Amino acid sequence: MSTQSALLKVMSDAARKAARGLNRDFGELAELQVSKKGAADYVSAADLKAEQTLFEALAKARPGYSFLGEERGLIEGTDKTHTWIVDPLDGTTNFLHAIPHFAINIALQREGVVVAAVTYNPITNELYWAEKGKGAFVNDKRLRVAARRHLDESVLATGIPFLGHGQHAKFLKELHQISQRVAGVRRFGAAALDMAFVAAGRFDGFWERDLKPWDMAAGLLLIAEAGGKVTNADGEDDVLGSGSVLASNLELHPLILEKLKLAN
Ligand code: IPD
Ligand code: CA
Ligand code: CA
Repeated sequence: MSTQSALLKVMSDAARKAARGLNRDFGELAELQVSKKGAADYVSAADLKAEQTLFEALAKARPGYSFLGEERGLIEGTDKTHTWIVDPLDGTTNFLHAIPHFAINIALQREGVVVAAVTYNPITNELYWAEKGKGAFVNDKRLRVAARRHLDESVLATGIPFLGHGQHAKFLKELHQISQRVAGVRRFGAAALDMAFVAAGRFDGFWERDLKPWDMAAGLLLIAEAGGKVTNADGEDDVLGSGSVLASNLELHPLILEKLKLAN
C-alpha cells in the first residue's frame, strides 16, 4: 500500500540527497558566529547548492522534463508535458535563524496537473509523499486530514506578510476574522510544511496569500490525496496561478472561507 512507485523513488532520493547538504550547512550555520550578512550569503549558497543537486538528480532520472525552481526559474526541457516544480529550501528565514523547521519541496506537473509530490523535512526525517489517485503518506504511514468540524476546536496555520512582501492590512483583517473564532493560529514559517501538516491532520486548516507555485504545488496533492480540499484564498480552483491557498477538510473549508470573505 505504501510502496513507492519508481517515480516517487526518484523524487524521494533526490530530496534526501539535497537534504544531506542542507543538514550539513544547517549544522555549521548553527555553530558559526557569522555576521548577519555572512549568514545570509551562506544560506543563499546552501539554497543554490540544494537546487543544483535536485536539478541534476531529477534531470538524470527523467531527461527532458522541464524544471521550474525558485532559484533558477523555468528551464524548458524537450518534454513540454512534464514540469518539476521545486523549492530547494522552504523556510529560509527559519534556516537563517537556526530554527529547525524547513523543507525540500518537489512536485511533478503533467499537462498542468500535479501528479506526484514530495515534501521532505530533513530535521525530523519525515518524508511526505503522494501520487495522484494513490493516497498520501508520511514515510510509510497513510495520511488523513483532520476530522474536526467546528472552527472553535480548530488550529489553523497561516503566513504573516513581512518586510517588502505581502498585503499587510488585508492580512490583519483576515486574522481578526479568524483568530476570534478558532482554538489557535500558528505561523511556523515554511508553507510547504504547513500544507504537509494539514495533510497529516495536525493543522485543521491553512491559508496564506502571496505564495509561489513551488511553495504550494506538492502540498496541493498531499492534501487532496489525504481527503482534504484545496482552493485559493478566495475559494476559486486556480491555486498555483493565484498565489494564494486555503486548505482544510471538506467541512471546515466553507466555514473558513466565509470568515475570510468577511475581511474583504
Ligand atoms: C517562504 C515560506 C514562508 C512563507 C513565505 C515564503 P521561502 O518560502 O514558505 O512560510 O510565508 O511567503 O516565501 O522563501 O522560505 O522559500
Ligand atoms: Ca518557499
Ligand atoms: Ca525557498
